[in-house]
Amino acid sequence: MTEIIIVKSQEEAGKIYARCTADLIRRKPDCVLGLATGSSPLAAYQALADLVHKEGIDVSQVRGFALDEYAGLDPAHPQSYRSTINRTVVEPLGLDPAKVQVPNGNLDTIKDAGRVYDQAIKDAGGVDLQILGIGTDGHIGFNEPGSSLASGTRIKTLTEQTRIDNARFFDNDMDQVPTHCITQGIGTILKARQLVLLAFGAGKAEAVAESVEGGISSFCPASALQMHPHATVIVDEAAASRL
Ligand code: GLP
Repeated sequence: MTEIIIVKSQEEAGKIYARCTADLIRRKPDCVLGLATGSSPLAAYQALADLVHKEGIDVSQVRGFALDEYAGLDPAHPQSYRSTINRTVVEPLGLDPAKVQVPNGNLDTIKDAGRVYDQAIKDAGGVDLQILGIGTDGHIGFNEPGSSLASGTRIKTLTEQTRIDNARFFDNDMDQVPTHCITQGIGTILKARQLVLLAFGAGKAEAVAESVEGGISSFCPASALQMHPHATVIVDEAAASRL
């Protein structure tokens, strides 16, 4: 069953995630956090960083795995998800960068990179708490509609809509926007022990309603959360407006 929490603001949602994550780190100092890019988790990372510094929580052993990465983009590129995770999570929290992995989008090795990544997550003992955003079409990670609900980490083609949505990060120049990505599969995501999905704004209302109240279907990847024993969806009133 999915628990729904309706909040007034992204900051309030961020504080709920931060409290839950800080408690996890205290209980299990070498816990494994599942990390996501996008704008939705930013207030949550900020709230967690504030709590970590205010309460002096030791994060030196915390490990992390990101959901996805562009294929064929230099990890040093400012818009790579490696750079984004460093900027928004690793640096503000003061995590050990060597303990935070991002899927390897290098085209020379990408054929095996998914299997290698899923094995690394398994070897780490699995993800304890996975944070998720949601696309307007219900995608999670880069699992677009039609993705197998049992999928592992693999290379995927980005849809035209997702490339258009993300062009703003590449000088609005479609030629610079990658065409492929490597993403944790829906099956990979479901293996995390706890899932927290954040969605804000009216643009997400349809996807949230379909995910939470619609049937479980690969055409709405986030509907897979209904199969998870410990999933929480935190939304503001606008994103909850179709529930
Ligand atoms: C991208 C990311 C997703 C993210 C989605 C929504 O497609 N791969 O992980 O959830 O964008 O982004 P935002 O939170 O900015 O709306």
